[in-house]
Amino acid sequence: MASTTTTIINVAASNVGLDCQSYVGLRPMLLPVRSFRSVRTSTRANPAPRFVVRASETHSGPFKKLGLSDAECEAAVVAGNVPEAPPVPPKPAAPAGTPVVPTLPINRRPRRNRRSPALRAAFQETTLSPANFVYPLFIHEGEEDAPIGAMPGCYRLGWRHGLVQEVAKARDVGVNSIVLFPKVPDGLKSPTGDEAYNDNGLVPRTIRLLKDKFPDLVIYTDVALDPYSSDGHDGIVREDGVIMNDETVHQLCKQAVAQARAGADVVSPSDMMDGRVGAIRAALDAEGFHHVSIMSYTAKYASSFYGPFREALDSNPRFGDKKTYQMNPANYREALVETREDESEGADILLVKPGLPYLDIIRLLRDNSPLPIAAYQVSGEYAMIKAGGVLKMIDEEKVMLESLLCLRRAGADVILTYFALQAAKSLCGERK
Ligand code: PBG
Repeated sequence: MASTTTTIINVAASNVGLDCQSYVGLRPMLLPVRSFRSVRTSTRANPAPRFVVRASETHSGPFKKLGLSDAECEAAVVAGNVPEAPPVPPKPAAPAGTPVVPTLPINRRPRRNRRSPALRAAFQETTLSPANFVYPLFIHEGEEDAPIGAMPGCYRLGWRHGLVQEVAKARDVGVNSIVLFPKVPDGLKSPTGDEAYNDNGLVPRTIRLLKDKFPDLVIYTDVALDPYSSDGHDGIVREDGVIMNDETVHQLCKQAVAQARAGADVVSPSDMMDGRVGAIRAALDAEGFHHVSIMSYTAKYASSFYGPFREALDSNPRFGDKKTYQMNPANYREALVETREDESEGADILLVKPGLPYLDIIRLLRDNSPLPIAAYQVSGEYAMIKAGGVLKMIDEEKVMLESLLCLRRAGADVILTYFALQAAKSLCGERK
């Protein structure tokens, strides 16, 4: 009990860092009286275990301790001798030359709520946790992990070894969701991308292995033909260059079912074909996979921020671009059209991609749908922060955490980010 009471006094008087000058106009007794009352009620009437707040040991606030033991404090209060307020400390000196001005006649000073770490923590509106992260991982058939040039710290991981180790590391710091991206050998690519639904292909095989090792790992998969397409497009390409919608959706349904059969928890169509969410939902349900979720890439833009990813998977389109299916970066309202479609077709999660340059779109979806929203901090965003850090132009660690927090503030529930492991380590207080 004694230690609890000490803690409370410390919290009231020092950890919060209250500054006497902020209390001008209030009875100076108010604060100490309140804290001593709470001591009395707590020790007498309420001996049950209580919420414990750890007081800072290193405070240097203006309050001096009174030098009384807890028992002496209590006895003094019971006897009606409420201690005096500590003396108001002298006003700290301002540098020579500071102008002497009348106090501004303002009744709202927002800085009051920002004046100490405890107050800032109390009023923080958004939080960031490893539970919010989905870790995208590149896999290949090889045994070795191969570094990806434009994404320092990221590798094409060997599906049997490197991958399993990376997943274990992520789980150690609270990241229990991953999304898999396969690097498929050229020999297995074709115009119709049929390798995408090979039950013994790299992705289904990897899912089975991971589910065997980590049954509670949440596995997201990518549903799109580009890693399997000899044309490097997300769909089947007609001879005149048109990406065929409904035929592609047929393939995507087979791909999603193969992934679900292997044990995927969330299939994630990133292809931007029309009608694919509804078709995939129906295909999954027809095979008994009612429990498998769909995270739809609802607002996926034709962005130049995907460059490093396409290098990682060697999945650059062999000709043209992806503008007939991915959205125009100039468009905002169009994201609502996609949102309505995906919601009505049964999507469980709506994704916006890229992330940081598209915060307005994340907020738009957040305000217009009750569904969970995901944001994808894509390869180019990752590469820019890494490059800025290597060149010592920015503080990589801080910019990383701020960028992730901002995605949350804009309205994202989960964030797909190559920083998942590094950020989670940082949030857990582990040094790199
Ligand atoms: C393709 C896909 C892409 C990304 C995820 N899935 C690339 C593209 O659309 O060309 C990009 C992710 C990133 O850049 O990090 N279906």
